[in-house]
Amino acid sequence: MRPILSPFHRAMRAGKAAAGSLIVALALSPPTYAADTRAKETPLSMVNALHTAFGDHHARAVHTKGVVVEGRFTPAPEAKSLVDSPVFNGAPLPLVARFSLFAGVPDLPDNADAASPAGFAFKIIAADGDDFDVEANQHNNFIVATFDEFAVFLRALAASGPDAAHPTAVEQFLASHPKAAQFLASRTYPDSYAQATYFGINALKFTNAKGQASFVRYRFVPRAGERYLTPEARKAKSGDYLQTEIVERLKQGPVVFDWYAQVAAAGDKIDDPSVAWPDSRRMVKLGEITLNRLPDDPEAAQKTLLFLPGQAHPGVEAADPMLVMRNTAYPISLGQRQ
Ligand code: HEM
Repeated sequence: MRPILSPFHRAMRAGKAAAGSLIVALALSPPTYAADTRAKETPLSMVNALHTAFGDHHARAVHTKGVVVEGRFTPAPEAKSLVDSPVFNGAPLPLVARFSLFAGVPDLPDNADAASPAGFAFKIIAADGDDFDVEANQHNNFIVATFDEFAVFLRALAASGPDAAHPTAVEQFLASHPKAAQFLASRTYPDSYAQATYFGINALKFTNAKGQASFVRYRFVPRAGERYLTPEARKAKSGDYLQTEIVERLKQGPVVFDWYAQVAAAGDKIDDPSVAWPDSRRMVKLGEITLNRLPDDPEAAQKTLLFLPGQAHPGVEAADPMLVMRNTAYPISLGQRQ
């Protein structure tokens, strides 16, 4: 099977104990970027909050249903103006990607409300072992501003089953968090995983060869164009329409996304992913993602893939504290998968 974890990730993949030792390693090693000093939740309490909302299925705590595909990343020459990093400086590199529905429910129908925002994650397999992981969602902001607020939302969701009295906990949460209510109401549902724009949401700090820093958010624009379903069309779709369509599409030819960095202007919030930066901000092309095949062993790929999108690389570091915290929650979820 083609390697899909870097040596570092592979060492961590050995199971719960290994995932635990990653947390220890992250806690003990000198920080390469600022931890979220505001966060009261721990990686474990956050994963438990996800289980409270979606159930514990011994699978990914969220974005559980999905499909793994493979391809390559080709850097764009313009990337160097923003970032000095081997991944953006060299030749095309292989990558493994996973498209997923949102909720932490393994058999969620693709046309369910909780399928959106869909996810797009990938790992560029770097020649030097420093794999470059990215995760994006099909919505240009996050439902809340902080790691802790997400746990509050998840627990409110869990307490709002069909028998809960009104106003339910989640209704109360949404009444006091209008941006979260707007997020839920404005979700879109793609016709194909290949026909949605995906957003990195959490800001990163890029540094170029001249030492100039910029804050960026990733954006992935589908070459095939965007196409979203009306509520009626979504209802008429099958419960597996997204998973099966992408497999069929790849038989016809590659699926391509253009990868851009949206560059923050003075005053744009770096540490609040619930606020999208204006569309008028400068976009710099970082490269192209070309997806063209399925893995040799899709089931093994599903089980073993771990993405660490907050990992620092030369010229690239997490700037939004939520991204740092997310990075600590993902290995916990991996350790609980069976
Ligand atoms: C506080 C905020 C968040 C928390 C606690 C969180 C937590 C998690 C966890 C526990 C998983 C399962 C990991 C695994 O088993 O490998 C996951 C998967 C994922 N998350 Fe997040 N997440 C957060 C925010 C975000 C944001 C803002 C994005 C997008 C920009 C995102 C995109 C994804 C994607 C695409 C996956 C699926 C990865 C895969 O295919 O394996 N998450 N998240």
